[in-house]
Amino acid sequence: MKQRILTGDRPTGPLHLGHYLGSLKQRVELQHTYDEFLIIADVQALTDNFANPQKVANNITEVALDYLAVGIDPAITTIFIQSQIPEIAELTIFYMNLVNLGRLEQNPTVKTELRQKGFEKEIPVGFLVYPISQAADITAFMPHVVPVGEDQLPMIEQTRDIVRKFNSLYGDTLIEPKELLSQYPRLPGIDGQEKMSKSLGNAIFLSDSQDVVREKVMRMYTDPNRIHPTDAGKVEGNPVFIYHDAFNTNTEEVADLKARYLQGTVGDVEVKEKLITALNHFLDPIRARRAEHAQDMPAIMRMLREGTERARAVAHDTLSRVKDAMHINYFK
Ligand code: TRP
Repeated sequence: MKQRILTGDRPTGPLHLGHYLGSLKQRVELQHTYDEFLIIADVQALTDNFANPQKVANNITEVALDYLAVGIDPAITTIFIQSQIPEIAELTIFYMNLVNLGRLEQNPTVKTELRQKGFEKEIPVGFLVYPISQAADITAFMPHVVPVGEDQLPMIEQTRDIVRKFNSLYGDTLIEPKELLSQYPRLPGIDGQEKMSKSLGNAIFLSDSQDVVREKVMRMYTDPNRIHPTDAGKVEGNPVFIYHDAFNTNTEEVADLKARYLQGTVGDVEVKEKLITALNHFLDPIRARRAEHAQDMPAIMRMLREGTERARAVAHDTLSRVKDAMHINYFK
């Protein structure tokens, strides 16, 4: 029996190169050795997009298309939609009794998000408790491992706390999951900010056209102290070279560009032209697969329905065990 892993995304927009390096690439590899479950977390997306449910709904298929485009295989990976699994909501209710308000308020990721979203003065309860809901997302499927980015570590920690508390109160029922951090480096935004993010407006999307990729790379941040192509430049920490390292498979070319950049014998434009070529070489097959799948949206919906049915059967089984442990399975 393969060990199970679970991870996923909020459907708030199409996925970008940062997602690819931070998680998608690893998921494509892991799906062969693990029983992989991917949650499209629309309920969680609604906690800060409750005024905009249409946006969340529209992005479910965008995310699904991105998954298939990068090589997630729905024959071996179960892709499912959170809101269609009421068992997750039920588990959330039971877990709420096991968490103190102070613990939620101290969650560093939640704190950052509250600031970013302007929720500090009036905190929506649904938003504050989403880490509990995420513990339900995870435990409903009894995964051993949860592959995530660093910002999700507080959620895994919260999940383990809930599992320990549940098991000590009601008897050994749930599994304590371990996190698995991506082994690939974090990709900066095209503006040089530490993190690529849709909300920061500094992302290159997997679904961007060749022209859009060109335009974004051309305005990419490089070495701010280098004014002329004949100035010696900095390679380390330079976004253009971080992208070259991550996506340009021609390692000789990258080494040559770096050497000349350090000496001041290559201009930014040449470095960027070569990056555009490398990125389009990487993205072309992804775009092609995406376009092919997008031609048959009913098939995408069938795939999501089947994945959700498979996932629901697992969550149903977990909820039944949870109710047994709590002695509330009255009509069994
Ligand atoms: N919180 C995750 C994010 O913002 C998405 C998510 C929801 C998730 N439920 C999950 C990730 C369960 C891992 C496991 O990206």
